[in-house]
Amino acid sequence: MSSYLFASSPCSVSRFSLLLGSSLPFFGIKSSAPRFTRLRHTAKSWAHLWTRSSSKLFSALSSPPPAYDDVIMLGIETSCDDTAAAVVRGNGDILSQVVSSQADLLSRYGGVAPKMAEEAHSLVIDQVVQRALDDAKLTGNDLSAVAVTIGPGLSLCLRVGVQKARRLAGVFNLPIVGVHHMEAHALVARLIERNLQFPFLALLISGGHNLLILAHKLGHYLQLGTTIDDAIGEAYDKTARWLGLDMRKGGGPALEELALEGDANSINFSIPMRQHKDCNFSYAGLKTQVRLAIESRKISMEHNPISLANLDDRRSRADIAASFQRVAVLHLEERCQRAIEWALKIEPSIKYLVVSGGVASNKYVRARLSHVVENSGLELVCPPPSLCTDNGVMVAWTGIEHFLLGRFDPPPPADEPEDAMFELRPRWPLGEEYSQGKSEARSLKRARVFPSLTSMIQGSVQN
Ligand code: KG4
Ligand code: ZN
Repeated sequence: MSSYLFASSPCSVSRFSLLLGSSLPFFGIKSSAPRFTRLRHTAKSWAHLWTRSSSKLFSALSSPPPAYDDVIMLGIETSCDDTAAAVVRGNGDILSQVVSSQADLLSRYGGVAPKMAEEAHSLVIDQVVQRALDDAKLTGNDLSAVAVTIGPGLSLCLRVGVQKARRLAGVFNLPIVGVHHMEAHALVARLIERNLQFPFLALLISGGHNLLILAHKLGHYLQLGTTIDDAIGEAYDKTARWLGLDMRKGGGPALEELALEGDANSINFSIPMRQHKDCNFSYAGLKTQVRLAIESRKISMEHNPISLANLDDRRSRADIAASFQRVAVLHLEERCQRAIEWALKIEPSIKYLVVSGGVASNKYVRARLSHVVENSGLELVCPPPSLCTDNGVMVAWTGIEHFLLGRFDPPPPADEPEDAMFELRPRWPLGEEYSQGKSEARSLKRARVFPSLTSMIQGSVQN
Protein backbone atom coordinates (compact mmCIF):
# COMPACT_ATOMS: atom_id res chain seq x y z
CA MET A 1 0.00 0.00 0.00
CA SER A 2 1.27 3.44 -0.74
CA SER A 3 1.17 6.07 1.89
CA TYR A 4 -1.45 8.81 1.47
CA LEU A 5 0.69 11.80 2.13
CA PHE A 6 4.25 10.83 1.57
CA ALA A 7 4.92 9.17 -1.72
CA SER A 8 8.30 7.57 -2.19
CA SER A 9 8.68 8.63 -5.81
CA PRO A 10 11.02 11.53 -6.58
CA CYS A 11 8.57 12.88 -9.16
CA SER A 12 5.78 14.47 -7.22
CA VAL A 13 3.58 15.37 -10.18
CA SER A 14 3.33 11.94 -11.73
CA ARG A 15 3.17 10.30 -8.35
CA PHE A 16 0.33 12.50 -7.51
CA SER A 17 -1.92 11.59 -10.41
CA LEU A 18 -1.22 7.98 -9.61
CA LEU A 19 -2.50 8.47 -6.10
CA LEU A 20 -5.61 10.26 -7.22
CA GLY A 21 -6.36 7.51 -9.67
CA SER A 22 -6.01 4.78 -7.08
CA SER A 23 -8.96 3.24 -5.36
CA LEU A 24 -7.68 4.40 -2.01
CA PRO A 25 -8.60 7.86 -0.89
CA PHE A 26 -5.73 10.26 -0.68
CA PHE A 27 -6.07 12.03 2.58
CA GLY A 28 -7.62 9.69 5.08
CA ILE A 29 -10.46 7.27 4.86
CA LYS A 30 -13.89 8.68 4.76
CA SER A 31 -16.09 5.64 4.60
CA SER A 32 -14.77 4.22 7.81
CA ALA A 33 -13.89 7.53 9.43
CA PRO A 34 -15.00 7.42 13.03
CA ARG A 35 -17.83 9.55 14.27
CA PHE A 36 -17.14 12.40 16.65
CA THR A 37 -18.23 10.83 19.87
CA ARG A 38 -16.53 11.08 23.18
CA LEU A 39 -15.48 7.55 24.08
CA ARG A 40 -13.27 6.05 26.66
CA HIS A 41 -10.75 4.66 24.22
CA THR A 42 -7.44 6.37 24.52
CA ALA A 43 -5.81 7.99 21.56
CA LYS A 44 -2.96 5.60 21.97
CA SER A 45 -5.10 2.50 21.69
CA TRP A 46 -6.68 3.81 18.52
CA ALA A 47 -3.61 5.15 16.84
CA HIS A 48 -1.56 2.11 17.69
CA LEU A 49 -3.88 -0.19 15.84
CA TRP A 50 -1.91 0.89 12.79
CA THR A 51 -0.17 -1.54 10.62
CA ARG A 52 1.15 -0.88 7.16
CA SER A 53 -1.33 -3.16 5.46
CA SER A 54 -4.39 -1.50 4.00
CA SER A 55 -6.91 -4.07 5.18
CA LYS A 56 -5.76 -3.68 8.77
CA LEU A 57 -5.83 0.05 8.26
CA PHE A 58 -9.53 -0.05 7.54
CA SER A 59 -10.31 -2.23 10.50
CA ALA A 60 -8.27 0.08 12.72
CA LEU A 61 -10.40 2.95 11.62
CA SER A 62 -13.64 1.20 12.28
CA SER A 63 -12.79 1.22 15.97
CA PRO A 64 -14.03 4.23 17.90
CA PRO A 65 -12.06 7.46 17.96
CA PRO A 66 -10.17 8.69 20.97
CA ALA A 67 -11.64 11.27 23.32
CA TYR A 68 -10.48 14.81 22.58
CA ASP A 69 -8.60 15.11 25.87
CA ASP A 70 -6.65 11.94 25.19
CA VAL A 71 -5.20 13.13 21.91
CA ILE A 72 -1.74 14.63 22.25
CA MET A 73 -0.25 15.99 19.04
CA LEU A 74 3.27 17.15 18.28
CA GLY A 75 3.28 19.80 15.52
CA ILE A 76 6.38 20.59 13.45
CA GLU A 77 6.72 23.61 11.15
CA THR A 78 9.68 24.37 8.87
CA SER A 79 8.05 25.69 5.69
CA CYS A 80 9.93 28.98 5.59
CA ASP A 81 12.33 30.69 7.99
CA ASP A 82 11.08 29.63 11.43
CA THR A 83 11.79 26.24 12.96
CA ALA A 84 8.88 25.58 15.27
CA ALA A 85 7.42 22.76 17.32
CA ALA A 86 4.63 22.51 19.86
CA VAL A 87 2.64 19.96 21.77
CA VAL A 88 -1.12 20.48 21.95
CA ARG A 89 -3.86 18.42 23.58
CA GLY A 90 -7.13 17.66 21.80
CA ASN A 91 -9.03 19.90 24.21
CA GLY A 92 -6.91 22.87 23.05
CA ASP A 93 -4.43 22.99 25.92
CA ILE A 94 -1.07 24.16 24.62
CA LEU A 95 1.48 22.04 26.50
CA SER A 96 4.54 23.64 24.92
CA GLN A 97 5.56 25.96 22.13
CA VAL A 98 9.08 26.50 20.78
CA VAL A 99 10.16 28.73 17.88
CA SER A 100 13.67 29.25 16.59
CA SER A 101 13.78 32.20 14.23
CA GLN A 102 16.20 32.87 11.39
CA ALA A 103 15.70 36.64 11.62
CA ASP A 104 19.44 37.17 12.02
CA LEU A 105 20.18 35.28 8.83
CA LEU A 106 17.43 37.17 7.03
CA SER A 107 18.81 40.51 8.05
CA ARG A 108 22.31 39.53 6.93
CA TYR A 109 21.37 38.08 3.56
CA GLY A 110 18.35 40.19 2.67
CA GLY A 111 15.78 37.42 2.37
CA VAL A 112 15.24 33.72 2.66
CA ALA A 113 17.96 31.86 0.76
CA PRO A 114 16.58 28.31 0.54
CA LYS A 115 19.88 26.47 0.99
CA MET A 116 20.87 28.57 3.97
CA ALA A 117 17.42 28.32 5.49
CA GLU A 118 17.57 24.54 5.10
CA GLU A 119 20.90 24.41 6.93
CA ALA A 120 19.58 26.62 9.69
CA HIS A 121 16.53 24.34 10.12
CA SER A 122 18.74 21.24 10.12
CA LEU A 123 20.98 22.73 12.80
CA VAL A 124 18.19 23.34 15.29
CA ILE A 125 15.36 20.93 14.44
CA ASP A 126 16.38 18.21 16.91
CA GLN A 127 16.75 20.69 19.75
CA VAL A 128 13.50 22.47 18.96
CA VAL A 129 11.49 19.25 18.94
CA GLN A 130 13.21 17.90 22.05
CA ARG A 131 12.58 21.15 23.85
CA ALA A 132 8.89 21.02 22.90
CA LEU A 133 8.63 17.52 24.35
CA ASP A 134 10.64 18.43 27.47
CA ASP A 135 8.60 21.57 28.13
CA ALA A 136 5.44 19.48 27.85
CA LYS A 137 7.06 16.93 30.20
CA LEU A 138 6.39 14.17 27.67
CA THR A 139 8.26 11.70 25.53
CA GLY A 140 7.42 10.34 22.10
CA ASN A 141 5.66 7.48 23.87
CA ASP A 142 2.98 9.84 25.15
CA LEU A 143 2.07 11.23 21.73
CA SER A 144 -0.96 10.15 19.70
CA ALA A 145 0.49 11.32 16.38
CA VAL A 146 2.85 13.78 14.73
CA ALA A 147 1.59 16.61 12.51
CA VAL A 148 3.95 18.30 10.10
CA THR A 149 3.66 20.99 7.44
CA ILE A 150 4.04 19.40 3.98
CA GLY A 151 3.30 22.57 1.96
CA PRO A 152 3.11 25.18 0.66
CA GLY A 153 6.64 26.46 1.30
CA LEU A 154 10.24 25.93 0.30
CA SER A 155 10.91 22.28 -0.59
CA LEU A 156 14.33 22.20 1.04
CA CYS A 157 12.90 23.60 4.26
CA LEU A 158 9.75 21.46 4.30
CA ARG A 159 11.94 18.40 3.90
CA VAL A 160 13.78 19.06 7.18
CA GLY A 161 10.55 19.08 9.17
CA VAL A 162 9.07 16.10 7.36
CA GLN A 163 12.21 14.05 7.84
CA LYS A 164 12.23 14.81 11.54
CA ALA A 165 8.53 14.00 11.86
CA ARG A 166 8.96 10.68 10.04
CA ARG A 167 11.99 9.68 12.09
CA LEU A 168 10.17 10.33 15.32
CA ALA A 169 6.95 8.72 14.12
CA GLY A 170 8.91 5.68 12.93
CA VAL A 171 10.68 5.22 16.26
CA PHE A 172 7.50 5.59 18.33
CA ASN A 173 5.15 3.95 15.83
CA LEU A 174 2.96 7.03 15.48
CA PRO A 175 0.61 8.06 12.67
CA ILE A 176 1.51 11.21 10.73
CA VAL A 177 -0.77 14.03 9.67
CA GLY A 178 0.44 16.13 6.73
CA VAL A 179 -0.68 19.71 7.22
CA HIS A 180 -1.39 22.59 4.81
CA HIS A 181 0.41 25.64 6.19
CA MET A 182 -2.33 28.14 5.27
CA GLU A 183 -5.10 25.93 6.59
CA ALA A 184 -3.15 25.84 9.87
CA HIS A 185 -3.03 29.67 9.96
CA ALA A 186 -6.82 29.69 9.62
CA LEU A 187 -7.72 26.82 11.94
CA VAL A 188 -5.62 27.98 14.88
CA ALA A 189 -8.37 30.57 15.33
CA ARG A 190 -10.67 27.69 16.36
CA LEU A 191 -8.28 26.80 19.13
CA ILE A 192 -8.47 30.24 20.70
CA GLU A 193 -12.15 30.93 19.94
CA ARG A 194 -14.03 27.76 20.72
CA ASN A 195 -17.34 29.21 19.46
CA LEU A 196 -15.87 29.58 16.02
CA GLN A 197 -17.84 27.07 13.96
CA PHE A 198 -17.78 26.48 10.23
CA PRO A 199 -18.62 28.20 7.96
CA PHE A 200 -16.48 31.28 8.45
CA LEU A 201 -14.54 33.78 6.38
CA ALA A 202 -10.75 34.07 6.71
CA LEU A 203 -8.20 36.61 5.57
CA LEU A 204 -4.74 35.01 5.66
CA ILE A 205 -1.86 37.46 5.33
CA SER A 206 1.74 36.35 5.48
CA GLY A 207 5.09 36.69 3.75
CA GLY A 208 4.08 34.51 0.83
CA HIS A 209 0.28 34.58 0.73
CA ASN A 210 -2.72 36.87 0.70
CA LEU A 211 -5.84 34.78 0.76
CA LEU A 212 -9.53 35.39 1.30
CA ILE A 213 -11.11 32.05 2.04
CA LEU A 214 -14.62 30.93 2.77
CA ALA A 215 -14.20 27.90 5.05
CA HIS A 216 -17.30 25.72 4.51
CA LYS A 217 -16.09 22.89 6.73
CA LEU A 218 -12.86 21.18 7.71
CA GLY A 219 -10.86 20.61 4.54
CA HIS A 220 -13.39 22.37 2.32
CA TYR A 221 -12.43 25.90 1.34
CA LEU A 222 -13.52 28.30 -1.37
CA GLN A 223 -10.92 30.82 -2.44
CA LEU A 224 -12.57 34.22 -2.89
CA GLY A 225 -9.34 36.07 -3.53
CA THR A 226 -5.58 35.72 -3.73
CA THR A 227 -2.65 37.90 -4.69
CA ILE A 228 -1.84 38.27 -8.35
CA ASP A 229 1.80 39.11 -7.54
CA ASP A 230 3.33 39.79 -4.10
CA ALA A 231 1.87 39.20 -0.67
CA ILE A 232 1.52 42.03 1.84
CA GLY A 233 4.26 40.62 4.12
CA GLU A 234 6.71 40.71 1.24
CA ALA A 235 5.82 44.38 0.63
CA TYR A 236 6.36 45.19 4.34
CA ASP A 237 9.72 43.39 4.32
CA LYS A 238 10.96 45.10 1.14
CA THR A 239 9.87 48.54 2.28
CA ALA A 240 11.53 48.01 5.67
CA ARG A 241 14.78 46.98 4.01
CA TRP A 242 14.78 49.96 1.62
CA LEU A 243 14.17 52.29 4.56
CA GLY A 244 17.23 50.89 6.33
CA LEU A 245 15.34 49.39 9.27
CA ASP A 246 16.78 46.86 11.66
CA MET A 247 15.63 43.59 10.09
CA ARG A 248 16.68 41.48 13.06
CA LYS A 249 13.27 41.98 14.60
CA GLY A 250 11.58 41.28 11.26
CA GLY A 251 10.72 43.76 8.50
CA GLY A 252 7.02 43.94 9.37
CA PRO A 253 7.41 44.72 13.07
CA ALA A 254 10.21 47.24 12.36
CA LEU A 255 8.07 49.07 9.82
CA GLU A 256 5.03 49.06 12.09
CA GLU A 257 7.12 50.70 14.79
CA LEU A 258 8.59 53.41 12.54
CA ALA A 259 5.17 54.16 11.04
CA LEU A 260 4.01 55.36 14.47
CA GLU A 261 6.34 58.36 14.10
CA GLY A 262 5.17 59.32 10.60
CA ASP A 263 2.31 61.14 8.91
CA ALA A 264 0.22 58.50 7.13
CA ASN A 265 -1.30 61.10 4.79
CA SER A 266 1.94 62.69 3.73
CA ILE A 267 2.23 60.63 0.55
CA ASN A 268 -0.71 59.74 -1.63
CA PHE A 269 0.18 56.29 -2.83
CA SER A 270 -2.57 54.95 -5.02
CA ILE A 271 -4.67 52.08 -3.75
CA PRO A 272 -4.10 48.88 -5.74
CA MET A 273 -6.66 47.27 -8.05
CA ARG A 274 -9.54 49.64 -7.40
CA GLN A 275 -10.78 49.18 -10.95
CA HIS A 276 -11.07 45.42 -10.40
CA LYS A 277 -14.28 44.73 -8.53
CA ASP A 278 -13.10 41.44 -7.06
CA CYS A 279 -11.33 40.21 -3.94
CA ASN A 280 -7.85 39.72 -5.35
CA PHE A 281 -4.77 41.57 -4.17
CA SER A 282 -1.69 43.14 -5.67
CA TYR A 283 1.28 44.67 -3.88
CA ALA A 284 3.89 44.86 -6.64
CA GLY A 285 2.67 48.29 -7.82
CA LEU A 286 2.69 49.70 -4.29
CA LYS A 287 6.25 48.47 -3.84
CA THR A 288 7.26 50.36 -6.98
CA GLN A 289 5.55 53.52 -5.73
CA VAL A 290 7.44 53.23 -2.44
CA ARG A 291 10.74 52.77 -4.23
CA LEU A 292 10.11 55.86 -6.34
CA ALA A 293 9.18 57.86 -3.22
CA ILE A 294 12.42 56.80 -1.54
CA GLU A 295 14.46 57.71 -4.60
CA SER A 296 12.78 61.09 -4.98
CA ARG A 297 13.67 61.92 -1.36
CA LYS A 298 17.28 61.01 -2.04
CA ILE A 299 17.29 58.29 0.60
CA SER A 300 19.97 55.78 -0.25
CA MET A 301 18.62 52.26 -0.64
CA GLU A 302 21.99 50.65 0.07
CA HIS A 303 23.81 50.61 3.42
CA ASN A 304 21.58 53.24 4.94
CA PRO A 305 20.81 52.12 8.52
CA ILE A 306 18.20 54.34 10.07
CA SER A 307 20.31 54.52 13.19
CA LEU A 308 22.64 56.85 11.23
CA ALA A 309 19.85 59.06 9.84
CA ASN A 310 19.49 62.68 10.99
CA LEU A 311 16.15 63.95 12.28
CA ASP A 312 14.82 65.14 8.92
CA ASP A 313 15.86 61.95 7.19
CA ARG A 314 14.26 59.84 9.91
CA ARG A 315 11.06 61.85 9.67
CA SER A 316 11.00 61.41 5.93
CA ARG A 317 11.42 57.63 6.24
CA ALA A 318 8.71 57.48 8.91
CA ASP A 319 6.32 59.34 6.58
CA ILE A 320 6.97 56.80 3.83
CA ALA A 321 6.47 53.92 6.29
CA ALA A 322 3.19 55.33 7.60
CA SER A 323 1.85 56.17 4.14
CA PHE A 324 2.79 52.74 2.83
CA GLN A 325 1.09 51.06 5.76
CA ARG A 326 -2.09 53.12 5.39
CA VAL A 327 -2.49 52.16 1.73
CA ALA A 328 -1.36 48.54 2.12
CA VAL A 329 -3.99 48.06 4.80
CA LEU A 330 -6.67 50.07 2.99
CA HIS A 331 -6.28 47.55 0.18
CA LEU A 332 -6.99 44.77 2.71
CA GLU A 333 -10.00 46.67 4.07
CA GLU A 334 -11.56 47.16 0.65
CA ARG A 335 -11.11 43.54 -0.37
CA CYS A 336 -12.43 42.27 2.98
CA GLN A 337 -15.48 44.49 2.69
CA ARG A 338 -16.33 42.94 -0.67
CA ALA A 339 -15.47 39.42 0.50
CA ILE A 340 -17.88 39.78 3.41
CA GLU A 341 -20.67 40.72 0.99
CA TRP A 342 -19.84 37.77 -1.26
CA ALA A 343 -19.49 35.34 1.64
CA LEU A 344 -22.82 36.35 3.17
CA LYS A 345 -24.51 35.66 -0.15
CA ILE A 346 -22.91 32.23 -0.43
CA GLU A 347 -23.21 31.28 3.25
CA PRO A 348 -25.65 33.64 5.03
CA SER A 349 -24.89 31.96 8.37
CA ILE A 350 -21.29 33.14 8.69
CA LYS A 351 -20.62 35.09 11.87
CA TYR A 352 -16.85 35.46 11.97
CA LEU A 353 -13.98 36.91 10.02
CA VAL A 354 -10.70 35.23 10.99
CA VAL A 355 -7.57 37.27 10.32
CA SER A 356 -4.35 35.31 10.69
CA GLY A 357 -0.80 34.90 9.34
CA GLY A 358 2.28 36.92 10.32
CA VAL A 359 0.94 40.31 9.19
CA ALA A 360 -2.16 39.83 11.37
CA SER A 361 0.05 40.43 14.40
CA ASN A 362 0.25 44.10 13.34
CA LYS A 363 -1.81 46.35 15.64
CA TYR A 364 -2.77 48.80 12.91
CA VAL A 365 -4.00 45.96 10.69
CA ARG A 366 -6.05 44.53 13.56
CA ALA A 367 -7.59 47.89 14.45
CA ARG A 368 -8.56 48.76 10.87
CA LEU A 369 -10.05 45.35 10.16
CA SER A 370 -12.02 45.37 13.36
CA HIS A 371 -13.85 48.48 12.03
CA VAL A 372 -14.66 46.70 8.78
CA VAL A 373 -16.03 43.75 10.68
CA GLU A 374 -18.05 45.84 13.14
CA ASN A 375 -19.76 47.67 10.32
CA SER A 376 -20.84 44.41 8.75
CA GLY A 377 -22.19 42.80 11.90
CA LEU A 378 -19.59 40.02 12.00
CA GLU A 379 -17.07 39.29 14.73
CA LEU A 380 -13.32 39.45 14.26
CA VAL A 381 -11.17 36.57 15.47
CA CYS A 382 -7.50 37.37 15.42
CA PRO A 383 -5.18 34.91 17.19
CA PRO A 384 -2.58 36.39 19.55
CA PRO A 385 0.60 37.50 17.72
CA SER A 386 2.57 34.40 18.74
CA LEU A 387 -0.07 32.25 16.99
CA CYS A 388 -0.32 34.54 13.94
CA THR A 389 3.32 34.25 12.94
CA ASP A 390 4.56 30.78 12.02
CA ASN A 391 4.36 28.38 14.95
CA GLY A 392 4.03 24.72 15.80
CA VAL A 393 0.75 25.11 17.70
CA MET A 394 -1.23 25.81 14.53
CA VAL A 395 0.24 22.70 12.91
CA ALA A 396 -0.48 20.52 15.93
CA TRP A 397 -4.03 21.86 16.19
CA THR A 398 -4.77 21.33 12.49
CA GLY A 399 -3.30 17.85 12.89
CA ILE A 400 -5.73 17.21 15.74
CA GLU A 401 -8.73 18.39 13.70
CA HIS A 402 -7.89 16.05 10.81
CA PHE A 403 -6.74 13.19 13.05
CA LEU A 404 -10.08 13.16 14.82
CA LEU A 405 -11.75 12.73 11.43
CA GLY A 406 -9.49 9.80 10.59
CA ARG A 407 -7.33 11.70 8.10
CA PHE A 408 -3.77 10.59 8.69
CA ASP A 409 -1.05 8.27 7.41
CA PRO A 410 0.25 5.14 9.08
CA PRO A 411 3.58 5.22 10.89
CA PRO A 412 6.61 5.15 8.62
CA PRO A 413 9.05 2.26 9.02
CA ALA A 414 11.41 2.71 11.96
CA ASP A 415 14.37 2.00 9.68
CA GLU A 416 13.45 4.40 6.87
CA PRO A 417 16.67 5.46 5.12
CA GLU A 418 17.89 9.04 5.57
CA ASP A 419 17.68 9.69 1.84
CA ALA A 420 14.12 8.39 1.37
CA MET A 421 12.07 10.59 -0.95
CA PHE A 422 8.87 12.16 0.34
CA GLU A 423 6.10 13.96 -1.36
CA LEU A 424 6.26 17.66 -0.52
CA ARG A 425 3.91 20.30 -1.89
CA PRO A 426 5.74 23.59 -2.33
CA ARG A 427 2.85 25.01 -4.35
CA TRP A 428 -0.43 23.82 -3.04
CA PRO A 429 -3.65 25.86 -3.18
CA LEU A 430 -5.95 25.58 -0.21
CA GLY A 431 -9.29 25.75 -2.00
CA GLU A 432 -10.93 25.96 -5.36
CA GLU A 433 -11.37 29.41 -6.86
CA TYR A 434 -14.75 31.08 -6.61
CA SER A 435 -15.86 31.35 -10.22
CA GLN A 436 -17.04 34.95 -9.88
CA GLY A 437 -13.84 35.88 -8.06
CA LYS A 438 -11.43 35.30 -10.88
CA SER A 439 -9.53 38.45 -11.67
CA GLU A 440 -8.94 39.70 -15.20
CA ALA A 441 -5.72 41.07 -13.76
CA ARG A 442 -4.06 37.71 -13.91
CA SER A 443 -0.45 37.04 -13.17
CA LEU A 444 1.53 34.25 -14.75
CA LYS A 445 2.72 33.13 -11.32
CA ARG A 446 -0.02 30.58 -11.15
CA ALA A 447 1.59 27.31 -12.12
CA ARG A 448 -0.06 24.71 -9.92
CA VAL A 449 1.87 21.69 -8.98
CA PHE A 450 -0.81 20.10 -6.85
CA PRO A 451 -4.59 20.11 -6.84
CA SER A 452 -5.98 22.02 -3.89
CA LEU A 453 -6.36 20.47 -0.46
CA THR A 454 -10.12 20.83 -0.87
CA SER A 455 -10.24 18.91 -4.15
CA MET A 456 -8.10 16.14 -2.67
CA ILE A 457 -10.36 15.72 0.31
CA GLN A 458 -13.48 15.86 -1.82
CA GLY A 459 -11.94 13.29 -4.14
CA SER A 460 -11.25 10.99 -1.23
CA VAL A 461 -14.78 11.45 0.10
CA GLN A 462 -16.23 10.47 -3.28
CA ASN A 463 -14.01 7.41 -3.42
O1 KG4 B 1 2.99 33.75 8.55
P1 KG4 B 1 4.39 34.21 8.64
O2 KG4 B 1 5.06 34.16 9.98
O3 KG4 B 1 5.30 33.40 7.66
C1 KG4 B 1 4.86 33.07 6.39
O4 KG4 B 1 4.06 32.11 6.26
O5 KG4 B 1 5.25 33.83 5.46
O6 KG4 B 1 4.44 35.68 8.08
C2 KG4 B 1 5.65 36.36 7.97
C3 KG4 B 1 5.39 37.75 7.45
C4 KG4 B 1 6.68 38.51 7.20
O7 KG4 B 1 6.59 39.15 5.96
C5 KG4 B 1 6.71 39.50 8.33
O8 KG4 B 1 7.39 40.69 8.05
C6 KG4 B 1 5.23 39.76 8.54
O9 KG4 B 1 4.64 38.49 8.42
N1 KG4 B 1 4.96 40.35 9.84
C7 KG4 B 1 4.43 41.58 10.00
C8 KG4 B 1 4.39 41.81 11.40
N2 KG4 B 1 4.87 40.70 12.03
C9 KG4 B 1 5.22 39.81 11.05
N3 KG4 B 1 4.03 42.49 9.11
C10 KG4 B 1 3.57 43.65 9.57
N4 KG4 B 1 3.51 43.97 10.88
C11 KG4 B 1 3.91 43.07 11.83
N5 KG4 B 1 3.84 43.39 13.12
ZN1 ZN C 1 2.93 31.37 7.68
